[in-house]
Amino acid sequence: MHIDILTLFPGMFVGPFDESIIHRAREAGLISIAIHDIRDWAPGKHRQCDDIPYGGGGGMIMKPEPVFRAVEAVLDMMPGDAPRCPVILLTPQGRTFTQAVARELVQQDQIVLICGRYEGIDERVRAYLVTDEISIGDYVLSGGELAAMVVTDAVTRLLPGALGDPGATLADSHAQGLLEHPQYTRPAVFRGWAIPEVLLSGHHARQARWRREMSLRRTYRRRPDLLEKAPLSEDDRAFLDRLREQEDASDGEPLGCNGVEGH
Ligand code: 6GU
Repeated sequence: MHIDILTLFPGMFVGPFDESIIHRAREAGLISIAIHDIRDWAPGKHRQCDDIPYGGGGGMIMKPEPVFRAVEAVLDMMPGDAPRCPVILLTPQGRTFTQAVARELVQQDQIVLICGRYEGIDERVRAYLVTDEISIGDYVLSGGELAAMVVTDAVTRLLPGALGDPGATLADSHAQGLLEHPQYTRPAVFRGWAIPEVLLSGHHARQARWRREMSLRRTYRRRPDLLEKAPLSEDDRAFLDRLREQEDASDGEPLGCNGVEGH
């Protein structure tokens, strides 16, 4: 897969893409990432990329010309051609990025990410150049750069071979529409706190059921909204019904000192 990122701040991408999973995926040739400086396509001596808004309103707006020329150059298009792959504007006005959107994007051979900056971007970029707009959540960032990194990371780890263990993403929070179950590693007793006994039992079926139930319980308590869409089995539904009855009876079990649910 190839990702082209168009930005006015290419320096922001030095570092985050040179570590960990993205670094390994690049080394392994699973993904190539090209960072392009939009300023390189700005005409004139000053290579100006922003200007004041027509009609007032304050702030500076990204000019259309450098962005159009950058996308056309990166995709080897004639002006006015339709792009041959998704051209995505990162903006707080876009559709919300989710695991489902990451799974959709990883199907593509190539995507172009345009990082919006300043107070906005000329509307003709939206109307006549981009094919999609993505936001990473309901809060305001100074620009689309961090969002482009988030999208790139979430997509890269879905590429076959990007993670050491091919099953590693299966239980990830959100992968099955639920939050992940609690995890423990050695030692079995740390500062007097023992791990749940079932994990030492060697009983694989019971352990799988425990993981599923903890995942359901955690999702029920923290993100009940997710349960409405998650694919649930009969056993899952029965477990949730029991959980609801228990909670109604006890008025909810208090969280531990760190907000961690009890065993
Ligand atoms: Cl994609 N851009 C900006 N500027 N702010 C955001 C965002 C994107 N997603 C959430 N907040």
